[in-house]
Amino acid sequence: MIGIYFSGTGNTKHCIEKLLSFLDQNAEAVPMEDERAQKAVKENSFIILAYPVQYSNIPVMVRDFIRNAASCWNGKQVLCMATMGMFSGDGTGCSARLLKKHGAAIMGGLQIHMPDSVCDSKLLKKSLETNQRIVLQADQKIEAAAKQIKAGNYPKEGLGFFCHLAGLLGQRLWFYGKTLHYSNQLKIHSNCVGCGLCASLCPMKNITMRNGKPVAKDHCTMCYRCISSCPQKAITLLGKEVYEQCRFERYI
Ligand SMILES: Cc1cc2nc3c(=O)[nH]c(=O)nc-3n(C[C@H](O)[C@H](O)[C@H](O)COP(=O)(O)O)c2cc1C
Ligand code: SF4
Ligand code: SF4
Repeated sequence: MIGIYFSGTGNTKHCIEKLLSFLDQNAEAVPMEDERAQKAVKENSFIILAYPVQYSNIPVMVRDFIRNAASCWNGKQVLCMATMGMFSGDGTGCSARLLKKHGAAIMGGLQIHMPDSVCDSKLLKKSLETNQRIVLQADQKIEAAAKQIKAGNYPKEGLGFFCHLAGLLGQRLWFYGKTLHYSNQLKIHSNCVGCGLCASLCPMKNITMRNGKPVAKDHCTMCYRCISSCPQKAITLLGKEVYEQCRFERYI
């Protein structure tokens, strides 16, 4: 068993590590941007694939990872796990359908409510206490799901027809263009002090330092890692101002 995950601000990393700790203490969780990730898919017969939902869809980077490893999925057993801030409908179903096309057997789907990583929108801002409560409930749900899985009953969240419809009509249809391509919309503001942290953290290597200043290209997968880590709150993407930076470590 192996876990392969993508996590912008740490929520998904926490969830997959928690699940693995109950299922198999020897199983590793490998980040998708790690060069070992594709090989890990090849070498393991049971894979937990985890990622955050974006606009009721999978992040472009995750879709690309699945496609780039196309020849490796045939015959693999996969449990899809999606984390979300509020609603996803078929967050797990989106990857499950793609994986099936590449020959994977989908064992189940698990969708976990976590704090919202979009931290430059006032609308999505929640108090620290609320986010801490959300994480606590998520942990309880993961523990219960692990017990079910161990007994051979895989949760099927996000995989059915009505979930597909909910994801499609709830958001994906209206925001489809947002997750079709990588984004070029990252904005770095003038209060940046050139510390270089954003460039070192970006999983897409989308930010490079030039003459002591970060420069963003057009290959952003909208993970919010740089935005949530910048000590100056100098980066925005969907909104105009950073409110409460979302980093999982803040909730424990
Ligand atoms: C660009 C973007 C779009 C998102 N869209 C959704 C969404 O449609 N539904 C939802 O419930 N959460 C949405 N979220 C919230 C994340 O899925 C959620 O916070 C997730 O747990 C973040 O995980 P991470 O910390 O592993 O990146 C979105 C986050 C981002 C950055
Ligand atoms: S993390 Fe923030 S302050 Fe540091 S270089 Fe990036 S934008 Fe500038
Ligand atoms: S530029 Fe920032 S938001 Fe975009 S992929 Fe890199 S770390 Fe994530």
